[in-house]
Amino acid sequence: MSQNQMPDDPLQELLDRRRIWAEKPQLRLCYERWAAMMRPYLAPGGLLEVGSGSGLSKELFPEVLLCDIVRAPWLDFRADCMRLPVGDSSIENVIAFDLLHHAADPHSFLTEAARVLKPGGRILLMEPYITPVSYVGYKALHHEDVYFGGYHKIPEGGAKVDPWQGNLAVANVVFNRMAAEWETRQPDLRIVRRDLLSFFDFQMAAGFKPRAYVPMGIYRLLVKLDDVLGLLMPLLAFRIFLVLEKKS
Ligand SMILES: C[S@@+](CC[C@H](N)C(=O)[O-])C[C@H]1O[C@@H](n2cnc3c(N)ncnc32)[C@H](O)[C@@H]1O
Repeated sequence: MSQNQMPDDPLQELLDRRRIWAEKPQLRLCYERWAAMMRPYLAPGGLLEVGSGSGLSKELFPEVLLCDIVRAPWLDFRADCMRLPVGDSSIENVIAFDLLHHAADPHSFLTEAARVLKPGGRILLMEPYITPVSYVGYKALHHEDVYFGGYHKIPEGGAKVDPWQGNLAVANVVFNRMAAEWETRQPDLRIVRRDLLSFFDFQMAAGFKPRAYVPMGIYRLLVKLDDVLGLLMPLLAFRIFLVLEKKS
C-alpha cells in the first residue's frame, strides 16, 4: 500500500486495489513477469502466500493459499506473518510480494516462514530495494519511509508501529546492513538467489495508482528494456527478488 499508516477502511483499500488490478493491463503484465521469474525457483509442492492483500496472486499461481493480517472474503485465512496458524514443516513454499517491508520484525517473519517449511522448501520474496536511482525515485513518487537506521522509523512518542507502516529500505537493512548476522538469526535458511530488477515495470505502471504513466504499447517496449539493463541494476533497480531455502 502506498500510504504509511493503517487506512480507515483497509478492506475498501484492498477492494480498490482489486479494481485497479482488473482495469490496468500494465500492472497485470508487471506481476505476470515477476511470477514468471519466480516459478522456476518454487520447490515442487504446495504454496502459501503471506500478506496477500488484494489476492491478485491467485491469478498468477492458481494453486496458492492466501492469507493476510486484514480479513477479506477472497483470502483463505487471516494470519499475522509472525505467527502463522500452520504446522511445523508442513508446506513446500512461502511467497510474499511487498510484505517484508511491512512486517514489524522482518527476521521474525523469516523465522516463522522457516518453521512452517519442509526441509528443502523455499521462501520467495519480491521487495522494494534502494539503489542510488531508486532512492531518488521512491523519495519523489512514494509515501513510505526510506530508512536505513533499523526496520522501521519509530513514530514520535514511541507509538506501536502499525502493520501498514512500510520502510522501503528493509531489504537493504536485512540483507546488506545486517548480513553478518544472517547465520545467527536464520540458522535454518540459506540464501539461494538475490536478483536486482525493475527500473521501468512497476514504476511505469504507476503501481496501484488508477492510471499507468504510458499506454500498453509503449509499456511493452519499456519492460523489455528492463531485461537488458542487468549490469546497471545495482545503480537502477527498484526491486529485489530473493530465494531462501530451508536447510535439510
Ligand atoms: C503492500 S501490501 C501487498 C499486498 C499484496 N501482496 C500485493 O502485492 O498486492 C502489504 C500487505 O501486507 C499485509 N500485512 C502487513 N503486515 C502484516 C503482517 N504482520 N502479517 C500479515 N500481513 C501483513 C497488509 O495488510 C497488506 O495487505
